[in-house]
Amino acid sequence: MQNKIFLITGGSSGIGLEIIGQLVSKGHKVVSFSRSEEKIKRALNQFPALEGKVDFNIGSTTNEDDIKSLFEQVKNKYGVVHGLVNNAAILNKGTIETISVEEWTNILDVNLTGPYIVAKTFLPLLKKADGASIVNISSVAGLKPGTSLAYSVSKAGLDMFTKFLAGDLGPYNIRVNSVNPGLVKTHIHLDNKIFDDEQSYLNMLKNAASRYPIGRVGTPGDIASVVEYLLSDKASWITGSIIPVDGGIMVENDLIPPKK
Ligand SMILES: NC(=O)c1ccc[n+]([C@@H]2O[C@H](COP(=O)([O-])OP(=O)(O)OC[C@H]3O[C@@H](n4cnc5c(N)ncnc54)[C@H](OP(=O)(O)O)[C@@H]3O)[C@@H](O)[C@H]2O)c1
Repeated sequence: MQNKIFLITGGSSGIGLEIIGQLVSKGHKVVSFSRSEEKIKRALNQFPALEGKVDFNIGSTTNEDDIKSLFEQVKNKYGVVHGLVNNAAILNKGTIETISVEEWTNILDVNLTGPYIVAKTFLPLLKKADGASIVNISSVAGLKPGTSLAYSVSKAGLDMFTKFLAGDLGPYNIRVNSVNPGLVKTHIHLDNKIFDDEQSYLNMLKNAASRYPIGRVGTPGDIASVVEYLLSDKASWITGSIIPVDGGIMVENDLIPPKK
């Protein structure tokens, strides 16, 4: 798998940024797409070697015009896309009693409608690859209720989107899979103001680790290596799969003693 073209949404941070790092290190061309300039600067501060090696584009996955203009740009520059990772997402907290209709709509727009718009728009370039792979970054929160109603529903919807597309796009030799991470240390919780301060977030991470059979929460690299595999021809018979990458949290139960 060398010199292929990949589009990663939300590549300026966390898991998306790590996926980009792994793909670039193997000699691939990567196009990233996210909203804020600041997060791109933060990413390049963290990984200066990516400067000039990744096309960091600005826009929102929920904006059809932004995605259409990205499509034109990628079509003119590369003419093909071998892999798409629908990674961009936002997180909130809240139950049916606490979240507003506006928050509900916003989460579903970014986490579910965004992947739909991007996949639909880029289909012509994915078809050209003859063997393209779409990976949707979902969550274990889509498999069992998490701490946010809207987020869990959006990720459960994304998993059905994966299964449906696998059937629809198989005849074009396009594979579609979900990767469902457990808790991973990234910027998502603090950037989306899930915690009041960094110390509360770090305390949560420490407490959460003991509930994971493997005894720790995830790193972006834990997720990126599975995504890289699914993007590669090594996974050429895997499609329509929902794959938890979660340190075992999906099998956690009261009988498994917490790791100290
Ligand atoms: N970290 C975890 O514990 C965890 C667990 C399970 C699943 N996940 C999933 O893993 C994926 C990556 O999460 P992460 O933890 O790496 O989060 P992160 O560090 O917050 O990164 C999210 C990325 O998405 C971009 N983004 C958000 N909204 C966007 C939009 N409308 N259009 C384009 N880009 C947008 C962000 O940049 P801008 O804000 O600048 O647009 C950023 O680059 C997400 O799908 C998340 O749901 C994460």
